[in-house]
Amino acid sequence: MSKVVVIGAGNVGATASQYIVDRQLADVVLIDIVEGLPQGKALDLLQAGSPSNHDCSIIGTNNYVDTKDADIVVMTAGIARKPGMSRDDLLKTNANIVQSSIKEAHKYSPNAIFVVVTNPLDVMTQLVLKTTKLPSQRVIGMAGVLDSARFETFIAMELKVSVKDVRAMVLGGHGDLMVPVTSLASVAGIPLLNLIDKDTLTKLIKRTQDGGAEIVSLLKTGSAFYAPGASVAFMVEALLRDQNRLMAASVCPNGEYGLKDLYIGLPCILGANGVKKIVELELADNEMADLKKSATAIKETVNKMNELLVAV
Ligand code: APR
Repeated sequence: MSKVVVIGAGNVGATASQYIVDRQLADVVLIDIVEGLPQGKALDLLQAGSPSNHDCSIIGTNNYVDTKDADIVVMTAGIARKPGMSRDDLLKTNANIVQSSIKEAHKYSPNAIFVVVTNPLDVMTQLVLKTTKLPSQRVIGMAGVLDSARFETFIAMELKVSVKDVRAMVLGGHGDLMVPVTSLASVAGIPLLNLIDKDTLTKLIKRTQDGGAEIVSLLKTGSAFYAPGASVAFMVEALLRDQNRLMAASVCPNGEYGLKDLYIGLPCILGANGVKKIVELELADNEMADLKKSATAIKETVNKMNELLVAV
């Protein structure tokens, strides 16, 4: 059985673990800074094994020794922005959490693939690369699968078709400047643009871009976790089973799309060793321009983070 370590036993970490064991993908070690939390959730998930017919091992811990020899490390630890907290405060706090936990996890699992979920996503993924010094193929951010899933869901709801028939991709940074690529969206192979009018499409794009915020405003405390958890499990499955699945993920291009030296959401193929290939697609001019804009915003946040980390 493969071993997946999930750092952060909060909503996203626990839900990702649930999907992973439920689909019998791997044994899971859930680790958190809070004592008792990962142990309690792990025991609860283990006891779900009988009724849900899985027999994966799942343990909770506060000690990185237990994370040894993981195949995949999923990074979800972090804090959400609280009232009165600036974006910079959040950036600095999460950067410190990511740096310290990833250093430990990498020490015990130097050969793992790292899947990053902590926000701000693209920037934190870049920080994991810097901290581990791994080849960039082995450090991947989870955002594109989630944002694409949201876009697909809204298309399916609008057209009253099964979400299984909808394919769409959201590229760029995981934030206000994400780029839902309408020129490539389809329903059972039929281009989306043949099925939907421009105004409706504009509304769906906006709702996708605000997808996380819509859920936060409904939940009032906390942010989304079912779709993020399922998206993590989808990536974990592609990696562990060497599936060569093509999806959007935060990856580090080396000249593709005219981009370099940053993490940003792009179409890629995932398999046993991580990112097998970044796939270059023909984008519409406005989509390409939006992607560049998104890249500039990510670079600015990375610079900001570097300043804040130096200031520590
Ligand atoms: N080491 C380990 N765990 C930590 C650390 C640390 N240094 N700091 C915080 N944590 C844990 C918290 O104790 C908490 O259990 O991270 C967990 C975060 O869980 P939640 O607050 O429930 O947040 P969640 O909704 O899971 O989101 C986690 O994913 O989608 C992103 O924006 C989201 O960055 C956030 C992350």
